[in-house]
Amino acid sequence: MKGVDVIVGLQWGDEGKGKISYVLSKQADAVVRFQGGANAGHTVKIGETRYKFNMLPAGCLAGPRPVIAAGCLLDPEAFEREIKLITSLGVKHKPLVSESTHIILPHHRELDGRIEELRGSEAVGTTRRGIGPAYADKMLRVGIRAGETTDPQLIQSKTQLLQKLHGIDFSVDAEKLRQTISPFVGNVETYLNTVLESGGRVVLEGAQGTLLDIDHGTYPYVTSSNTLAANGFVSTGVAVKWKHSVIGVMKAYATRVGAGPFPTELDGDVAERIREVGGEYGTTTGRPRRVGWLDIPALRYACMVNGVDEIAVTKVDVLNGLSTVKACVGYVVNGVETESFTDCLMMLDDVKPVYVEFPGWSVGDDDWHAAVRNGWDDLPPNAREYLEWVEKTLHVKISLVSVGEEAGLTVQRT
Ligand code: IMO
Ligand code: MG
Repeated sequence: MKGVDVIVGLQWGDEGKGKISYVLSKQADAVVRFQGGANAGHTVKIGETRYKFNMLPAGCLAGPRPVIAAGCLLDPEAFEREIKLITSLGVKHKPLVSESTHIILPHHRELDGRIEELRGSEAVGTTRRGIGPAYADKMLRVGIRAGETTDPQLIQSKTQLLQKLHGIDFSVDAEKLRQTISPFVGNVETYLNTVLESGGRVVLEGAQGTLLDIDHGTYPYVTSSNTLAANGFVSTGVAVKWKHSVIGVMKAYATRVGAGPFPTELDGDVAERIREVGGEYGTTTGRPRRVGWLDIPALRYACMVNGVDEIAVTKVDVLNGLSTVKACVGYVVNGVETESFTDCLMMLDDVKPVYVEFPGWSVGDDDWHAAVRNGWDDLPPNAREYLEWVEKTLHVKISLVSVGEEAGLTVQRT
């Protein structure tokens, strides 16, 4: 499709957005990160090799031009590392960084750690990549932007202001920033709207997930940006008039890394098994992820606020071998049962999930490969019934199912 594909996470991040972006970027002209910084960890496995991205959109390995939009935070070290990576892989397009993208500086990381320590038992469990403090400096209108890296003197004088403001002594290598960032800087708004004007296709690769949205998530246990699809337009300057489709990515179960409410969280053997089989350890920080069953009220909310047109379900293979698979269809709160996520958003810690159960599936690699070759109808029957129930209960079509980590292990529904 010409126009815009917006890829967003429907849970707490780590839904597999990197792989889906790679799959959907094959026909695209540009693929864009539109929020967050190096807190994201997007992985694509091609053949036997895993490629990990914290900063550039993972979809760029499929061919389109990688773009970092104004609403992102640019982490200079991660950016430099990934520029080297894509250069070594022969990615032919030069990345484009918005002149308005704010840069993460050393004091942002230091403040991130300090705030977490001050919060003590209420710590958010951030990735400590300086995300919250860098967005705060942006809103205070004291941040340093990518477009300013051409002028080392300006960077030095702005650094002095930041040192005074925060009472932190840190140094910035302005010359290094000039060398590593300024060659990639340009106007993203004009570039993307021109691509669309000439009939091109743009993929907007979201980071984190809906429930980590600063306004619409489980505040304060959230990230510091808007993760919703609408922010894909605000942060890039892509006009909302362009034809677009919102693709929501969800796992066949749920995970969360960091603190905050997680009504369907599991512990014990099943959690351990899913964590090991699914490799549920943070790409950015290596932390073990918390694991749980699907939360339908939360997913229904995520589909609503993003305006999801199609769903991609990932890691269906990870549930292989479980005798029973569960999904939460409602909550009991103060003795009353409800299916409404928004009724419970302020007290998610106190809800008790109501589950429905499904018979599991236990198949071999060949069965997944057959589904990849032959399509949806060849999915293991119990897995297919589970997915058909999910789309019926969410009222959104599942258009893509990932049945293994490798990029090709994808069932596209026609
Ligand atoms: P991708 O793009 C999962 C979580 C952190 C913490 C909270 C705030 O790979 O899905 P921050 O460092 O952003 O201030 O931390 O958000 N978090 C993520 N969890 N996937 C991510 O990115 C995340 N990025 C941040 O664990 O709870
Ligand atoms: Mg991730």
